[in-house]
Amino acid sequence: MNTLLEVSGVSVSFDGFRAINNLSFRIASAEMRAIIGPNGAGKTTFMDIVTGKTKPDEGRILWGEKSVSLLGLSEARIAREGVGRKFQKPTVFEDQTVQENLLMALKNKRGPFSVLLYRAKNDDLARVEAFAEEIGLADALMRKSGELSHGQKQWLEIGMLLAQEPRLLLVDEPAAGMTPAEREHTTNILVEAAKTRAVVVVEHDMEFVRRLDCKVTVLHEGSVLAEGSLDHVTANKDVVDVYLGR
Ligand SMILES: Nc1ncnc2c1ncn2[C@@H]1O[C@H](COP(=O)(O)OP(=O)(O)OP(=O)(O)O)[C@@H](O)[C@H]1O
Ligand SMILES: [Mg+2]
Repeated sequence: MNTLLEVSGVSVSFDGFRAINNLSFRIASAEMRAIIGPNGAGKTTFMDIVTGKTKPDEGRILWGEKSVSLLGLSEARIAREGVGRKFQKPTVFEDQTVQENLLMALKNKRGPFSVLLYRAKNDDLARVEAFAEEIGLADALMRKSGELSHGQKQWLEIGMLLAQEPRLLLVDEPAAGMTPAEREHTTNILVEAAKTRAVVVVEHDMEFVRRLDCKVTVLHEGSVLAEGSLDHVTANKDVVDVYLGR
């Protein structure tokens, strides 16, 4: 397997409580992975550690072909390395149009003055259109983001993350507050995105997880309790005891 992220023996305690306990697993470079587990299992804390928001007490987080350690890097630096994170509350600029939001989010490899060039501008608009297409907002490019529905704002936020071209996208509970139709569209966006990058999704909605059709890691008390297909992990008695049978 072509490993993009390797978490190895990671632990973190808050006031003596071990939220993450000797956690180890790997994510491949173009893989969809779902993480499930009971409240307080450490799912969000895992994302906090990978993005540099929380420093672990022990363990390693290795990144990319060269196995660079992400520990000790700032949050901004980790983001530049290609780790994108979707927070639950959308952070789109409500007064700006969908197109403006996506334009601002574009990862620009050119120098600061090239924005003045007509062709560079057209390239950017074409890229924005492609991202809008990918998130299903191609018809809403000129609408103010504040007018979008909750689901559409979430998709725009995902589009803005994709516009930064991350190699790993971390998504925490994307289906929360969405209608069934919005959930289905969200799965489609994430499945498409995972064809060219790693996507890690934390979600409690099992229907949503089933549609992702991917390997599932079950966390419990800060460690991996089970891993495999959804059918495999949901047949695991320990998983039923601590999570599904609640
Ligand atoms: N910054 C922090 N300070 C103190 N305790 C924390 C902190 N972050 C997380 N915890 C604790 O660590 C444990 C794991 O929390 P975490 O938010 O990672 O769980 P989770 O699996 O995301 O749960 P949920 O499904 O409810 O979102 C919880 O007991 C939580 O209270
Ligand atoms: Mg959480």
